[in-house]
Amino acid sequence: MRHTVSVIAGDGIGPEVIREGMKVLRRVADLDGGFSFQFTEYPWGCGYYLQEGRMMPEDGMKRLADSESIFLGAVGYPGVPDYISLRDLLLVIRKDFDQYVNLRPVRLLKGAPCPLKDVNRADIDMIFIRENSEGEYSGSGSWLYRGKPNEVVIQDNVFSRHGTERIIRYAYDLARREGRTLTSISKANALNYSMVFWDQVFAEVGSEYPDVKTSSYLVDAASMFMVRDPKRFQIVVTSNLFGDILTDLGAAISGGMGLAAGANLNPERRYPSMFEPIHGSAPDIAGQGLANPLATVWSASQMLDFFGYKSWGARLLEIIEAILTEGRVLTPDLGGNATTEQVGDEVVRKLSESR
Ligand code: NAD
Ligand code: IPM
Ligand code: MN
Repeated sequence: MRHTVSVIAGDGIGPEVIREGMKVLRRVADLDGGFSFQFTEYPWGCGYYLQEGRMMPEDGMKRLADSESIFLGAVGYPGVPDYISLRDLLLVIRKDFDQYVNLRPVRLLKGAPCPLKDVNRADIDMIFIRENSEGEYSGSGSWLYRGKPNEVVIQDNVFSRHGTERIIRYAYDLARREGRTLTSISKANALNYSMVFWDQVFAEVGSEYPDVKTSSYLVDAASMFMVRDPKRFQIVVTSNLFGDILTDLGAAISGGMGLAAGANLNPERRYPSMFEPIHGSAPDIAGQGLANPLATVWSASQMLDFFGYKSWGARLLEIIEAILTEGRVLTPDLGGNATTEQVGDEVVRKLSESR
């Protein structure tokens, strides 16, 4: 079985971490022997923009549509405004390929550093289901009287019934399947249309899942509880913007940006799904071999799960935990002095060892 993967390494540390991710995926396929990956690499990103005046070619989406999945490093770099680089590459892919589920594990792996005190490590074990196609990220709005004294900007939050119901239903299904609790995070006390609607849909859909234990928090209180009492959260469903912010907070309590992975899923598989670390291009450390590739390896593990190779996905997580616990081969963000490549090599070495 051959799986087609489009690779967009992107900007900054993107190419550095993706190189290690591809190396790991190739080794997994070699060891398994029953499947392989056909990677097609696209040089799109800010460098491409500076030469071509666009983030990807006109037929870029058509080319990506031919593959089963996309492996993405990071997008965005000084010199190109973020609202162009991100909207015209990352966000357009998520939206046009209807990758409406952004699944982000917030789990404190064995051996990972945690800044929280008085918290039982095993209690940081959540899966965020972030709405990934609309909400605060709809890209709709207007800018009136630009540059004039009466200037007005309006950014629309779009919550369709279809979009809200399907993400909430996805989260209920996951909670039911895993026998875990489901928490909805919203803000209906201030956002009197979008979030009142969100809460209503959460209750409506919930009536079909009487077996799933639920809670509902306002986003401000939820951020406080994530730090003070993270065991309250198991499966979590929230809007696009809240999910973005809370999963960086999640990364901070579970080992840092170098360990946080995410999958952008089109559950119906009509379009490719995309796997990426949740961190950005980290211009402050780019080009120096300092980037931690383990978030990307975790995203590779999510890709393996998606393709149905769950035992390989789990194996990669065990290897990440072994690397963290041993503490010998770690990048500087985790207190070590290994390079990006050395960490990737260590994953490959451990993979080979285990067979
Ligand atoms: P960032 O995630 O790139 O970096 C935040 C901090 O975390 C930095 O100090 C960085 O050095 C550190 N960090 C991030 N990843 C790391 C890794 N793998 N190993 C070690 N340290 C790591 O966020 P930012 O600085 O706000 O954004 C930089 C650029 O990336 C911007 O253009 C932003 O829009 C873009 N961005 C892209 C994505 C994406 O492509 N998915 C995500 C977030 C931000
Ligand atoms: C993420 C990123 C993106 C987001 C940005 C770069 C548009 O922060 O994947 O978390 O906000 O979704
Ligand atoms: Mn983010």
